[in-house]
Amino acid sequence: MTLTLSPRALMSLLANGPKAMDVLETAFDMGLLDALEPGPARLDALATRFGVRPLRLYKFLDCLESLGFLARDEPGDDIGATGYRAVPGLRDAVAAVVGPGAVERDRDRYPWRRLHGRLGASLRGEVSMSDDDFAWPPKTDAQTADFERSMAVGLTPVIEAVRRHADLLWPDRHRLLDVGGGDGTLAAHVLDTAPGLRADVYNLPAVAPLVAATRVARGHPERLGFVGGDFRTEPLPRGYDALSFVRVLHDWPNEVARRLVEQAYEALEPGGMLLICEEFRTPDRLAMQFFWSYFLIGVDNCVSRLREVEFYTKLLAEAGFERVAVLPGAWELVTAYKPASVG
Ligand SMILES: C[S@@+](CC[C@H](N)C(=O)[O-])C[C@H]1O[C@@H](n2cnc3c(N)ncnc32)[C@H](O)[C@@H]1O
Repeated sequence: MTLTLSPRALMSLLANGPKAMDVLETAFDMGLLDALEPGPARLDALATRFGVRPLRLYKFLDCLESLGFLARDEPGDDIGATGYRAVPGLRDAVAAVVGPGAVERDRDRYPWRRLHGRLGASLRGEVSMSDDDFAWPPKTDAQTADFERSMAVGLTPVIEAVRRHADLLWPDRHRLLDVGGGDGTLAAHVLDTAPGLRADVYNLPAVAPLVAATRVARGHPERLGFVGGDFRTEPLPRGYDALSFVRVLHDWPNEVARRLVEQAYEALEPGGMLLICEEFRTPDRLAMQFFWSYFLIGVDNCVSRLREVEFYTKLLAEAGFERVAVLPGAWELVTAYKPASVG
């Protein structure tokens, strides 16, 4: 079931957003979503099971239905006989947004209120995030630690994707360089599934202590390394047969993304694999990126460009890579190989 609302109807939901979230959190906390998702569940049975008044529950479920999250079958005059079924995955989606460690909760810590109500002035360049609010790339040790921690919270879809495709990605690989690899959380997950691999995180030198902490915490003391550097001013290090850009290229303008892919081609061993993963642009992902689209209006040096996957497949082919492939997943992985013999 997909719901396409008119702009007017969608705006009513947006104007009542905090109330909609209250409904979702309540349904989640009560366990109603667990009952509704397998469905069909009758109103009278639900009311008895959860100890609530049927008519009140009916209105509550109308709120959920207005969000497009419920299918309803109301056979006649007896509202108690009304049957409901939640859209598949609703419980997990609500958990991801309001549960412990939720990405949206983490995002809310950022000082977005600096722009709130002052967007016009911000668009004109009169109001911006200061370097104390949010510097890109992070400037102080505290900003670096805070930002990388935030990034690690949002890695779940990438971790799922690399685990799902582990058999395809790593069997012939020996050394991975995760460029802009955060605090090493993703590299550690890759190492969990690839016993023959060593991985180095390439990141700004200030990130070194965070990767050192991950190395200890995640139990890969011998196989997880760190190479400090700045890809804006230095060539990428050589000697790797796999290289990854995960949520890195979308931070930069097209010409920088192109140069980084070309640099990766230069740096990789013949036959080496390049992996790109980020939120490739779709309506769904643009919606889930709403926070950063809004917040980064006030941060000129972070580009934040959600690009369609075709931008990267074309760029990789133009840079000389072959066997360019898009591997499916909640987030797709793009893989490509440097020819084994470069003539
Ligand atoms: C959006 S984060 C993504 C982190 C990680 N790959 C992930 O997906 O969780 C971008 C990363 O690029 C790194 N970075 C930014 N500018 C860099 C530069 N000039 N050289 C090396 N790394 C850089 C940041 O420190 C950060 O770790």
